[in-house]
Amino acid sequence: MTAVSADGLDAAAGGTDRGDAGVDGTGREKAGTDGTGRGEAETDGAGGGESYRLHVDGFLRTVSGAWIGDSLLTVLRDVLGVTAVKDACEQGRCGACSVLLDGRLAASCTVLAADADGSRVVTVAGLGGSGLTRAVRAMFLAEGAVQCGFCTPGFVVAVTDLLTRHPDADEEEIREALAGNICRCTGYGRIVAAVRAVQAERGILPPGDTPTPGDAPSRPDGG
Ligand code: FES
Ligand code: FES
Repeated sequence: MTAVSADGLDAAAGGTDRGDAGVDGTGREKAGTDGTGRGEAETDGAGGGESYRLHVDGFLRTVSGAWIGDSLLTVLRDVLGVTAVKDACEQGRCGACSVLLDGRLAASCTVLAADADGSRVVTVAGLGGSGLTRAVRAMFLAEGAVQCGFCTPGFVVAVTDLLTRHPDADEEEIREALAGNICRCTGYGRIVAAVRAVQAERGILPPGDTPTPGDAPSRPDGG
């Protein structure tokens, strides 16, 4: 197993309902721009782009000179240097770029950064190293839910969001909640086992439903 840093990594497929707030498949265009996606809302004259502010992982960041059509993912990584959020499909299909946007799980590649002006953005790096998030990270490692690690940051954000909103989610609910995150290495059995282990550690699982490390099914196809 390849060890992964706390900012792990990810990917997701199919039906995600995460914040499709305004970009097309390329993550660009929209918000009233012309055919080039450029030309509106240039306010600072320096760099010819929008200027707005985002609260990222607890810090107020000013974005100047970014293209009006840049996705939140692009601005986080390429403008603000927040590389804990991962870039994979850029089409809202993999979950690698998952963040909490004003407290709601969102695929940052599907959100126009300019539309998020004034919003609170929390990446895996901003979730903190204690409590629930620490337990999620620890159990991903303990249960073998991390291989290459590229999907892990997105999963950690999604699992933390799920267990915050729904601490006693059953396996079906866990799988449904994580349907927007793709992992091509571990098989989802290990990831579900990690979530169940967090629940067990926190005394949430009902008696007799406590998983033994390594007992969750894992199929080569990720099932
Ligand atoms: S990069 Fe795949 S959902 Fe955003
Ligand atoms: S894509 Fe999930 S661990 Fe490699």
